[in-house]
Amino acid sequence: MKQPIPPFSHGPIRLRLLQEDDLPATLEWRNRDGARQQFFSGELISWDHHVAWFTRYADKNDDFVFIAEELESGQRIGQVSLYDVNLAHADAEVGRFIVAPEFAGRGLMRAAIEALSLLAATSLGLHRLRLEVKASNSRAYQLYESLRFEVTERSDSVIHMERKLADGP
Ligand SMILES: CC(C)(COP(=O)(O)OP(=O)(O)OC[C@H]1O[C@@H](n2cnc3c(N)ncnc32)[C@H](O)[C@@H]1OP(=O)(O)O)[C@@H](O)C(=O)NCCC(=O)NCCS
Repeated sequence: MKQPIPPFSHGPIRLRLLQEDDLPATLEWRNRDGARQQFFSGELISWDHHVAWFTRYADKNDDFVFIAEELESGQRIGQVSLYDVNLAHADAEVGRFIVAPEFAGRGLMRAAIEALSLLAATSLGLHRLRLEVKASNSRAYQLYESLRFEVTERSDSVIHMERKLADGP
């Protein structure tokens, strides 16, 4: 069973756990041309596949997908997530970042990832976050670099990055 993480607000963003009634929106964002190709499995996802994924996800306690909402309006601005959470090692992977197209390029996903990092440190006690990004995804790479993620490994196709959190070693 998934541990409930209470909603977390920081700056212009409120993060709350994904719920079943968010699934139509998150499927649309994920399948959008231009977005889906940035993921390692870039194929179109069907509704049945998406719902089956959510059912498995709901039982996992190391995987947390958040809807980022604009605090002021309550509108969904995108999705961010923490997975492979290892409390003993105080680390996790972050990713599955997708912006709702109407909010793209407004600096809100930067704020959402910053809020996620703060939540990881303060609510879960994590010290280190890892991520993987396609080497061709320069927009996302620049964003992560400016959020103090550092390259740990690089190949022609994928870049591995890591960020130490404020209270970490
Ligand atoms: C990656 C993504 C979530 C960023 O969302 P966004 O709304 O563009 O993010 P922001 O507005 O917060 O932009 C933050 C940074 O992104 C980068 N960026 C945004 N638009 C850009 C553009 N047109 N060209 C290059 N870099 C850009 C910049 O570094 C920007 O920093 P700045 O504020 O100093 O300009 C969004 O582009 C997206 O959903 N992409 C498709 C899915 C994806 O690639 N996910 C990540 C997989 S690893």
